[in-house]
Amino acid sequence: MNHAEICTEEARRERVLIVGSGGREHALAAAFAADPDVAAVFAAPGSDGMADVAECLPLNWREPAPLADWALANAVTLIVIGPEEPLANGLTDYLRERGLTVFAPTRAAARIEWDKNWAKELMTRAGVPTARYAAFDEADAALEYLATVDLPIVIKVNRLFAGKGVTVTDDLATAQNAVRAACAGYDATEAGMPAVVIEECLEGPEFSLISLVDGDRFCPLAVAQDYKRAYDGDRGPNTGGMGACSPVPVISEAHIAAAIETIVRPTVRALIEHNATFTGFLYAGLMLTAEGIKVIEFNSRMGDPEAQVILPRLESGLSGLIRALLDGSTPTARWSSDYAVGVVLASQGYPQGPLRTGTITIAEPLEGRLYHMSTARAADLTSDGTKTNAPTNDSLAPANNRHWRSTGGRSLICVGRGPSLETARAAAYRDVGRIRSDVLFYRSDIGSHAE
Ligand code: AMP
Ligand code: GLY
Repeated sequence: MNHAEICTEEARRERVLIVGSGGREHALAAAFAADPDVAAVFAAPGSDGMADVAECLPLNWREPAPLADWALANAVTLIVIGPEEPLANGLTDYLRERGLTVFAPTRAAARIEWDKNWAKELMTRAGVPTARYAAFDEADAALEYLATVDLPIVIKVNRLFAGKGVTVTDDLATAQNAVRAACAGYDATEAGMPAVVIEECLEGPEFSLISLVDGDRFCPLAVAQDYKRAYDGDRGPNTGGMGACSPVPVISEAHIAAAIETIVRPTVRALIEHNATFTGFLYAGLMLTAEGIKVIEFNSRMGDPEAQVILPRLESGLSGLIRALLDGSTPTARWSSDYAVGVVLASQGYPQGPLRTGTITIAEPLEGRLYHMSTARAADLTSDGTKTNAPTNDSLAPANNRHWRSTGGRSLICVGRGPSLETARAAAYRDVGRIRSDVLFYRSDIGSHAE
Protein backbone atom coordinates (compact mmCIF):
# COMPACT_ATOMS: atom_id res chain seq x y z
CA MET A 1 0.00 0.00 0.00
CA ASN A 2 1.28 3.49 -0.77
CA HIS A 3 0.84 6.40 1.62
CA ALA A 4 -2.42 7.60 0.07
CA GLU A 5 -3.91 4.11 0.26
CA ILE A 6 -2.85 3.77 3.88
CA CYS A 7 -4.51 7.12 4.66
CA THR A 8 -7.73 6.07 2.93
CA GLU A 9 -7.66 2.76 4.75
CA GLU A 10 -7.16 4.58 8.06
CA ALA A 11 -9.97 7.03 7.25
CA ARG A 12 -12.35 4.11 6.81
CA ARG A 13 -11.67 2.76 10.27
CA GLU A 14 -14.05 3.80 13.02
CA ARG A 15 -13.28 6.04 15.96
CA VAL A 16 -15.79 4.84 18.54
CA LEU A 17 -16.96 6.68 21.64
CA ILE A 18 -18.80 4.69 24.31
CA VAL A 19 -20.94 6.54 26.85
CA GLY A 20 -20.97 4.89 30.28
CA SER A 21 -18.66 3.36 32.84
CA GLY A 22 -19.88 -0.10 33.91
CA GLY A 23 -19.22 -3.71 32.98
CA ARG A 24 -21.43 -3.57 29.89
CA GLU A 25 -19.43 -0.60 28.60
CA HIS A 26 -16.15 -2.38 29.41
CA ALA A 27 -17.34 -5.36 27.32
CA LEU A 28 -18.42 -3.05 24.47
CA ALA A 29 -15.05 -1.27 24.58
CA ALA A 30 -13.21 -4.62 24.54
CA ALA A 31 -15.25 -5.78 21.52
CA PHE A 32 -14.45 -2.59 19.60
CA ALA A 33 -10.79 -2.68 20.67
CA ALA A 34 -10.48 -6.20 19.22
CA ASP A 35 -12.16 -5.15 15.95
CA PRO A 36 -9.69 -4.56 13.08
CA ASP A 37 -12.07 -1.98 11.58
CA VAL A 38 -11.75 0.22 14.67
CA ALA A 39 -8.87 2.69 14.93
CA ALA A 40 -9.61 4.12 18.39
CA VAL A 41 -11.94 3.50 21.33
CA PHE A 42 -12.87 6.25 23.78
CA ALA A 43 -15.11 6.06 26.84
CA ALA A 44 -16.97 8.90 28.59
CA PRO A 45 -16.26 8.67 31.43
CA GLY A 46 -15.16 5.02 31.37
CA SER A 47 -13.36 3.73 34.43
CA ASP A 48 -9.88 2.84 35.63
CA GLY A 49 -10.62 -0.79 34.83
CA MET A 50 -11.57 0.04 31.24
CA ALA A 51 -8.27 1.76 30.55
CA ASP A 52 -6.94 -1.52 29.13
CA VAL A 53 -9.17 -1.16 26.08
CA ALA A 54 -10.32 2.48 25.89
CA GLU A 55 -9.02 5.97 26.36
CA CYS A 56 -11.13 7.29 29.21
CA LEU A 57 -12.28 10.91 29.05
CA PRO A 58 -13.28 13.30 31.84
CA LEU A 59 -16.69 13.76 30.21
CA ASN A 60 -20.13 12.37 30.90
CA TRP A 61 -23.62 12.45 29.42
CA ARG A 62 -25.04 14.88 31.98
CA GLU A 63 -23.07 17.59 30.19
CA PRO A 64 -23.88 16.76 26.58
CA ALA A 65 -22.47 19.93 24.99
CA PRO A 66 -18.81 19.31 25.96
CA LEU A 67 -19.29 15.65 25.06
CA ALA A 68 -20.45 16.57 21.54
CA ASP A 69 -17.72 19.22 21.22
CA TRP A 70 -15.08 16.65 22.07
CA ALA A 71 -16.50 14.03 19.70
CA LEU A 72 -16.60 16.53 16.82
CA ALA A 73 -13.11 17.86 17.53
CA ASN A 74 -11.68 14.33 17.71
CA ALA A 75 -13.30 12.92 14.57
CA VAL A 76 -15.43 10.35 16.37
CA THR A 77 -17.29 8.34 13.71
CA LEU A 78 -19.62 6.29 15.91
CA ILE A 79 -21.15 6.80 19.37
CA VAL A 80 -22.66 3.94 21.36
CA ILE A 81 -24.60 4.72 24.54
CA GLY A 82 -24.60 2.05 27.28
CA PRO A 83 -27.08 2.94 30.07
CA GLU A 84 -30.80 3.68 29.85
CA GLU A 85 -30.83 7.02 31.67
CA PRO A 86 -29.12 9.10 28.95
CA LEU A 87 -31.40 7.48 26.35
CA ALA A 88 -34.53 8.43 28.29
CA ASN A 89 -33.10 11.93 28.62
CA GLY A 90 -32.66 12.37 24.87
CA LEU A 91 -28.87 12.19 24.59
CA THR A 92 -29.15 10.47 21.19
CA ASP A 93 -31.44 13.23 19.88
CA TYR A 94 -28.99 15.92 21.01
CA LEU A 95 -25.87 14.24 19.62
CA ARG A 96 -27.61 13.64 16.26
CA GLU A 97 -28.62 17.30 16.12
CA ARG A 98 -24.95 18.10 16.53
CA GLY A 99 -24.22 16.00 13.43
CA LEU A 100 -22.80 12.91 15.13
CA THR A 101 -23.54 9.29 14.19
CA VAL A 102 -25.12 7.54 17.16
CA PHE A 103 -26.04 3.86 17.37
CA ALA A 104 -28.69 4.24 20.07
CA PRO A 105 -32.40 5.06 20.22
CA THR A 106 -33.94 8.52 20.44
CA ARG A 107 -35.94 9.43 23.54
CA ALA A 108 -39.12 8.55 21.61
CA ALA A 109 -37.84 5.07 20.70
CA ALA A 110 -36.31 4.42 24.15
CA ARG A 111 -39.83 4.81 25.51
CA ILE A 112 -40.18 1.06 25.03
CA GLU A 113 -38.06 0.84 28.20
CA TRP A 114 -38.96 3.96 30.20
CA ASP A 115 -42.75 3.63 29.86
CA LYS A 116 -43.78 0.01 30.42
CA ASN A 117 -47.45 0.85 29.85
CA TRP A 118 -46.62 2.30 26.42
CA ALA A 119 -44.58 -0.82 25.63
CA LYS A 120 -47.55 -3.01 26.60
CA GLU A 121 -49.94 -0.99 24.39
CA LEU A 122 -47.49 -1.26 21.51
CA MET A 123 -47.23 -5.05 21.95
CA THR A 124 -50.99 -5.45 22.26
CA ARG A 125 -51.62 -3.54 19.04
CA ALA A 126 -48.88 -5.43 17.19
CA GLY A 127 -50.09 -8.82 18.46
CA VAL A 128 -46.79 -9.51 20.24
CA PRO A 129 -47.31 -12.16 22.97
CA THR A 130 -46.86 -10.78 26.49
CA ALA A 131 -48.39 -11.11 29.97
CA ARG A 132 -51.93 -9.72 30.49
CA TYR A 133 -51.83 -6.40 32.33
CA ALA A 134 -53.66 -3.36 33.66
CA ALA A 135 -52.23 0.13 34.26
CA PHE A 136 -53.24 2.65 36.95
CA ASP A 137 -52.66 6.34 37.63
CA GLU A 138 -53.19 6.13 41.36
CA ALA A 139 -53.14 3.72 44.29
CA ASP A 140 -56.86 3.34 45.14
CA ALA A 141 -57.91 1.96 41.77
CA ALA A 142 -54.80 -0.25 41.62
CA LEU A 143 -55.51 -1.69 45.09
CA GLU A 144 -59.13 -2.34 44.15
CA TYR A 145 -57.98 -4.24 41.06
CA LEU A 146 -55.39 -6.12 43.12
CA ALA A 147 -58.20 -7.54 45.28
CA THR A 148 -59.63 -9.28 42.18
CA VAL A 149 -56.51 -10.98 40.76
CA ASP A 150 -54.92 -14.39 41.33
CA LEU A 151 -51.57 -14.60 43.06
CA PRO A 152 -48.66 -14.62 42.33
CA ILE A 153 -48.78 -11.24 40.66
CA VAL A 154 -46.23 -8.79 39.24
CA ILE A 155 -46.15 -5.08 40.15
CA LYS A 156 -44.05 -2.77 37.96
CA VAL A 157 -43.25 0.85 38.71
CA ASN A 158 -43.98 2.57 35.40
CA ARG A 159 -40.77 4.57 35.05
CA LEU A 160 -37.03 4.00 35.21
CA PHE A 161 -36.33 2.81 38.71
CA ALA A 162 -32.67 1.72 38.60
CA GLY A 163 -33.64 -1.89 37.93
CA LYS A 164 -35.55 -2.13 41.21
CA GLY A 165 -39.05 -1.39 40.01
CA VAL A 166 -40.38 -4.95 39.68
CA THR A 167 -42.01 -6.95 42.49
CA VAL A 168 -43.00 -10.56 41.85
CA THR A 169 -44.93 -11.89 44.84
CA ASP A 170 -47.52 -14.39 46.05
CA ASP A 171 -48.21 -12.27 49.12
CA LEU A 172 -51.06 -9.75 48.85
CA ALA A 173 -49.62 -7.37 51.49
CA THR A 174 -46.29 -7.23 49.62
CA ALA A 175 -48.15 -6.52 46.37
CA GLN A 176 -50.18 -3.76 48.06
CA ASN A 177 -47.02 -2.18 49.47
CA ALA A 178 -45.39 -2.26 46.04
CA VAL A 179 -48.44 -0.51 44.56
CA ARG A 180 -48.35 2.16 47.27
CA ALA A 181 -44.61 2.69 46.79
CA ALA A 182 -45.10 3.08 43.02
CA CYS A 183 -47.86 5.67 43.46
CA ALA A 184 -46.48 7.66 46.42
CA GLY A 185 -45.63 11.22 45.43
CA TYR A 186 -46.31 10.47 41.75
CA ASP A 187 -48.51 12.69 39.58
CA ALA A 188 -49.63 10.69 36.54
CA THR A 189 -51.21 13.71 34.86
CA GLU A 190 -48.04 15.75 35.16
CA ALA A 191 -45.85 12.80 34.08
CA GLY A 192 -48.21 11.93 31.23
CA MET A 193 -48.11 8.23 32.00
CA PRO A 194 -49.60 5.82 34.55
CA ALA A 195 -47.88 5.15 37.88
CA VAL A 196 -48.01 1.39 37.96
CA VAL A 197 -48.52 -1.65 35.75
CA ILE A 198 -49.95 -4.84 37.28
CA GLU A 199 -49.16 -7.95 35.29
CA GLU A 200 -50.06 -11.60 35.19
CA CYS A 201 -47.15 -13.71 36.49
CA LEU A 202 -45.67 -15.90 33.76
CA GLU A 203 -43.71 -19.07 34.40
CA GLY A 204 -40.84 -20.69 32.56
CA PRO A 205 -37.15 -20.23 31.76
CA GLU A 206 -36.13 -16.65 30.95
CA PHE A 207 -33.69 -15.57 28.28
CA SER A 208 -32.52 -12.36 26.67
CA LEU A 209 -32.59 -11.90 22.91
CA ILE A 210 -30.82 -8.67 22.01
CA SER A 211 -30.75 -7.39 18.43
CA LEU A 212 -28.82 -4.66 16.67
CA VAL A 213 -31.59 -2.64 15.03
CA ASP A 214 -31.92 0.16 12.49
CA GLY A 215 -35.52 0.84 11.48
CA ASP A 216 -37.07 -2.40 10.21
CA ARG A 217 -33.72 -4.14 9.69
CA PHE A 218 -32.07 -6.02 12.54
CA CYS A 219 -29.33 -8.48 13.40
CA PRO A 220 -30.11 -10.77 16.35
CA LEU A 221 -27.22 -11.51 18.70
CA ALA A 222 -26.65 -14.82 20.49
CA VAL A 223 -29.10 -15.45 23.34
CA ALA A 224 -28.07 -15.19 27.00
CA GLN A 225 -29.55 -15.95 30.39
CA ASP A 226 -29.23 -13.57 33.32
CA TYR A 227 -29.29 -14.71 36.98
CA LYS A 228 -31.35 -11.97 38.60
CA ARG A 229 -31.61 -13.09 42.21
CA ALA A 230 -28.92 -12.20 44.73
CA TYR A 231 -28.25 -15.63 46.23
CA ASP A 232 -27.77 -19.28 45.27
CA GLY A 233 -30.83 -21.25 44.23
CA ASP A 234 -32.52 -18.11 42.85
CA ARG A 235 -33.18 -16.83 46.35
CA GLY A 236 -33.03 -13.30 47.70
CA PRO A 237 -33.92 -9.97 46.17
CA ASN A 238 -33.83 -9.15 42.47
CA THR A 239 -30.57 -7.54 41.39
CA GLY A 240 -29.19 -6.02 38.21
CA GLY A 241 -27.86 -9.54 37.48
CA MET A 242 -25.44 -11.74 39.45
CA GLY A 243 -24.15 -13.64 36.44
CA ALA A 244 -25.04 -14.81 32.97
CA CYS A 245 -24.37 -17.45 30.37
CA SER A 246 -24.51 -17.64 26.59
CA PRO A 247 -25.84 -19.56 24.73
CA VAL A 248 -28.75 -21.01 26.73
CA PRO A 249 -29.04 -24.82 26.38
CA VAL A 250 -32.82 -24.99 26.81
CA ILE A 251 -33.41 -22.39 24.09
CA SER A 252 -33.18 -24.08 20.69
CA GLU A 253 -32.62 -22.58 17.24
CA ALA A 254 -36.36 -23.11 16.62
CA HIS A 255 -37.23 -21.09 19.74
CA ILE A 256 -34.95 -18.30 18.60
CA ALA A 257 -36.44 -18.31 15.10
CA ALA A 258 -39.94 -18.17 16.61
CA ALA A 259 -38.97 -15.27 18.89
CA ILE A 260 -37.54 -13.36 15.95
CA GLU A 261 -40.68 -13.76 13.84
CA THR A 262 -43.35 -13.34 16.54
CA ILE A 263 -41.61 -10.72 18.67
CA VAL A 264 -38.62 -8.85 17.23
CA ARG A 265 -39.92 -8.33 13.69
CA PRO A 266 -43.43 -7.10 14.61
CA THR A 267 -41.99 -4.92 17.39
CA VAL A 268 -39.51 -3.01 15.22
CA ARG A 269 -42.31 -2.47 12.67
CA ALA A 270 -44.70 -1.28 15.37
CA LEU A 271 -42.06 1.17 16.63
CA ILE A 272 -41.88 2.69 13.14
CA GLU A 273 -45.69 2.95 13.00
CA HIS A 274 -45.69 4.75 16.36
CA ASN A 275 -43.18 7.36 15.15
CA ALA A 276 -40.54 5.78 17.34
CA THR A 277 -38.21 4.23 14.76
CA PHE A 278 -35.57 2.34 16.70
CA THR A 279 -31.82 2.39 16.19
CA GLY A 280 -29.48 0.64 18.62
CA PHE A 281 -29.57 -2.45 20.83
CA LEU A 282 -33.14 -3.69 21.34
CA TYR A 283 -33.24 -6.02 24.34
CA ALA A 284 -36.14 -8.48 24.52
CA GLY A 285 -36.47 -10.11 27.94
CA LEU A 286 -38.40 -13.29 27.10
CA MET A 287 -39.93 -16.26 28.86
CA LEU A 288 -40.51 -19.70 27.37
CA THR A 289 -43.97 -20.44 28.80
CA ALA A 290 -46.22 -23.46 28.27
CA GLU A 291 -48.07 -21.27 25.73
CA GLY A 292 -44.97 -20.29 23.82
CA ILE A 293 -42.47 -17.44 24.08
CA LYS A 294 -43.75 -14.22 25.68
CA VAL A 295 -42.23 -10.83 26.41
CA ILE A 296 -41.38 -9.96 30.03
CA GLU A 297 -39.93 -6.57 29.13
CA PHE A 298 -38.12 -4.59 26.49
CA ASN A 299 -35.02 -2.56 27.17
CA SER A 300 -33.62 0.04 24.82
CA ARG A 301 -29.97 -0.88 25.29
CA MET A 302 -27.49 -3.72 25.62
CA GLY A 303 -27.94 -5.95 28.69
CA ASP A 304 -25.65 -5.93 31.69
CA PRO A 305 -24.29 -8.59 32.43
CA GLU A 306 -25.51 -10.12 29.14
CA ALA A 307 -23.03 -8.01 27.13
CA GLN A 308 -20.14 -9.57 29.06
CA VAL A 309 -21.02 -13.12 27.94
CA ILE A 310 -22.39 -12.35 24.46
CA LEU A 311 -19.75 -10.03 23.03
CA PRO A 312 -16.69 -12.24 23.73
CA ARG A 313 -18.36 -14.95 21.59
CA LEU A 314 -18.88 -12.61 18.63
CA GLU A 315 -16.52 -13.48 15.79
CA SER A 316 -17.70 -10.74 13.40
CA GLY A 317 -16.44 -7.22 14.00
CA LEU A 318 -19.06 -5.33 16.03
CA SER A 319 -18.42 -2.07 14.17
CA GLY A 320 -18.94 -3.79 10.79
CA LEU A 321 -22.34 -5.12 11.85
CA ILE A 322 -23.44 -1.69 13.08
CA ARG A 323 -22.08 0.11 10.01
CA ALA A 324 -23.79 -2.38 7.66
CA LEU A 325 -27.13 -1.72 9.38
CA LEU A 326 -26.64 2.05 9.29
CA ASP A 327 -25.75 1.77 5.59
CA GLY A 328 -29.02 -0.01 4.79
CA SER A 329 -28.15 -3.71 4.71
CA THR A 330 -29.00 -6.60 7.02
CA PRO A 331 -25.82 -8.29 8.27
CA THR A 332 -25.54 -11.71 9.90
CA ALA A 333 -23.26 -12.17 12.90
CA ARG A 334 -20.81 -15.08 13.20
CA TRP A 335 -20.45 -16.73 16.62
CA SER A 336 -17.97 -18.93 18.36
CA SER A 337 -19.53 -22.33 19.09
CA ASP A 338 -18.31 -22.26 22.68
CA TYR A 339 -20.06 -21.24 25.90
CA ALA A 340 -19.38 -18.23 28.07
CA VAL A 341 -20.29 -18.03 31.75
CA GLY A 342 -19.92 -14.79 33.71
CA VAL A 343 -19.85 -14.68 37.52
CA VAL A 344 -20.44 -11.31 39.17
CA LEU A 345 -18.56 -10.35 42.33
CA ALA A 346 -20.64 -7.81 44.26
CA SER A 347 -20.07 -5.80 47.42
CA GLN A 348 -21.56 -7.20 50.60
CA GLY A 349 -24.96 -5.69 51.22
CA TYR A 350 -25.82 -5.50 47.51
CA PRO A 351 -28.49 -4.82 46.34
CA GLN A 352 -30.08 -3.22 49.44
CA GLY A 353 -27.09 -1.29 50.83
CA PRO A 354 -23.74 -2.29 49.38
CA LEU A 355 -20.52 -1.37 51.17
CA ARG A 356 -18.83 1.34 49.15
CA THR A 357 -15.28 0.42 49.96
CA GLY A 358 -13.18 -2.72 50.27
CA THR A 359 -9.97 -4.09 48.84
CA ILE A 360 -9.62 -6.39 45.85
CA THR A 361 -6.39 -8.13 44.84
CA ILE A 362 -5.98 -10.13 41.69
CA ALA A 363 -3.61 -12.64 43.23
CA GLU A 364 -2.71 -14.71 40.15
CA PRO A 365 -2.95 -14.23 36.39
CA LEU A 366 -6.48 -14.88 35.14
CA GLU A 367 -7.25 -17.29 32.32
CA GLY A 368 -10.46 -15.60 31.14
CA ARG A 369 -11.73 -12.07 30.79
CA LEU A 370 -12.35 -9.75 33.69
CA TYR A 371 -14.70 -6.79 33.23
CA HIS A 372 -14.88 -3.99 35.76
CA MET A 373 -18.39 -3.01 36.81
CA SER A 374 -17.70 -0.71 39.75
CA THR A 375 -14.11 -0.44 40.94
CA ALA A 376 -11.31 2.08 41.10
CA ARG A 377 -7.58 1.62 41.10
CA ALA A 378 -6.56 1.23 44.73
CA ALA A 379 -3.94 3.98 44.57
CA ASP A 380 -6.51 6.53 43.44
CA LEU A 381 -8.71 6.21 46.47
CA THR A 382 -8.50 7.88 49.80
CA SER A 383 -8.98 5.74 52.90
CA ASP A 384 -12.73 6.46 53.03
CA GLY A 385 -13.19 5.08 49.53
CA THR A 386 -13.80 8.35 47.67
CA LYS A 387 -11.86 8.95 44.51
CA THR A 388 -8.98 11.43 44.60
CA ASN A 389 -8.22 13.74 41.72
CA ALA A 390 -4.68 12.44 41.50
CA PRO A 391 -3.57 11.68 37.93
CA THR A 392 -3.26 8.00 37.08
CA ASN A 393 0.18 8.29 35.50
CA ASP A 394 1.63 4.82 35.04
CA SER A 395 -1.68 3.13 35.49
CA LEU A 396 -1.32 0.61 32.69
CA ALA A 397 1.72 -1.16 34.15
CA PRO A 398 0.60 -4.75 34.81
CA ALA A 399 1.64 -4.68 38.47
CA ASN A 400 -0.74 -1.80 39.04
CA ASN A 401 -3.60 -3.78 37.60
CA ARG A 402 -3.59 -6.12 40.59
CA HIS A 403 -4.90 -3.81 43.30
CA TRP A 404 -8.40 -2.38 43.16
CA ARG A 405 -11.12 -1.16 45.42
CA SER A 406 -14.80 -1.83 45.17
CA THR A 407 -16.80 1.36 44.77
CA GLY A 408 -20.09 -0.33 45.61
CA GLY A 409 -22.69 -2.55 43.98
CA ARG A 410 -21.54 -5.08 41.44
CA SER A 411 -17.75 -4.73 41.18
CA LEU A 412 -16.34 -7.29 38.77
CA ILE A 413 -17.39 -10.10 36.47
CA CYS A 414 -15.16 -13.09 35.62
CA VAL A 415 -16.02 -14.66 32.27
CA GLY A 416 -14.95 -18.23 31.54
CA ARG A 417 -15.17 -19.97 28.16
CA GLY A 418 -15.29 -23.61 27.19
CA PRO A 419 -16.75 -26.14 24.76
CA SER A 420 -19.58 -26.89 27.22
CA LEU A 421 -21.48 -24.93 29.83
CA GLU A 422 -19.75 -27.01 32.51
CA THR A 423 -16.22 -26.25 31.30
CA ALA A 424 -17.03 -22.56 30.87
CA ARG A 425 -18.48 -22.46 34.34
CA ALA A 426 -15.42 -24.21 35.83
CA ALA A 427 -13.13 -21.70 34.08
CA ALA A 428 -15.10 -18.73 35.42
CA TYR A 429 -14.97 -20.05 38.99
CA ARG A 430 -11.22 -20.79 38.74
CA ASP A 431 -10.74 -17.09 38.00
CA VAL A 432 -13.09 -16.07 40.81
CA GLY A 433 -10.79 -18.10 43.11
CA ARG A 434 -7.82 -15.99 41.99
CA ILE A 435 -9.42 -12.80 43.30
CA ARG A 436 -8.95 -11.96 46.96
CA SER A 437 -11.25 -9.47 48.63
CA ASP A 438 -12.53 -8.52 52.07
CA VAL A 439 -15.82 -7.26 50.65
CA LEU A 440 -17.00 -9.21 47.61
CA PHE A 441 -19.51 -12.07 47.46
CA TYR A 442 -20.78 -14.10 44.53
CA ARG A 443 -23.25 -16.82 43.64
CA SER A 444 -21.74 -20.28 43.33
CA ASP A 445 -24.38 -21.69 40.95
CA ILE A 446 -24.09 -19.48 37.86
CA GLY A 447 -24.39 -21.65 34.75
CA SER A 448 -25.14 -24.79 36.74
CA HIS A 449 -28.84 -24.98 36.04
CA ALA A 450 -29.30 -22.96 32.89
CA GLU A 451 -32.67 -24.40 31.99
P1 AMP B 1 -36.92 -6.36 35.27
O1 AMP B 1 -36.38 -5.56 36.44
O2 AMP B 1 -37.93 -5.64 34.47
O3 AMP B 1 -35.79 -7.00 34.49
O4 AMP B 1 -37.73 -7.58 35.90
C1 AMP B 1 -37.11 -8.32 36.88
C2 AMP B 1 -37.57 -9.74 36.83
O5 AMP B 1 -38.92 -9.83 37.27
C3 AMP B 1 -37.59 -10.39 35.47
O6 AMP B 1 -36.36 -10.80 35.02
C4 AMP B 1 -38.50 -11.57 35.74
O7 AMP B 1 -37.78 -12.58 36.41
C5 AMP B 1 -39.51 -10.97 36.70
N1 AMP B 1 -40.73 -10.64 35.96
C6 AMP B 1 -41.05 -9.46 35.36
N2 AMP B 1 -42.26 -9.54 34.78
C7 AMP B 1 -42.73 -10.79 35.01
C8 AMP B 1 -43.93 -11.51 34.67
N3 AMP B 1 -44.92 -10.93 34.00
N4 AMP B 1 -44.03 -12.79 35.09
C9 AMP B 1 -43.06 -13.39 35.80
N5 AMP B 1 -41.92 -12.77 36.15
C10 AMP B 1 -41.74 -11.50 35.76
N1 GLY C 1 -29.54 -7.84 32.76
C1 GLY C 1 -30.74 -7.12 32.74
C2 GLY C 1 -30.65 -5.79 32.14
O1 GLY C 1 -29.65 -5.41 31.56
O2 GLY C 1 -31.61 -5.05 32.27
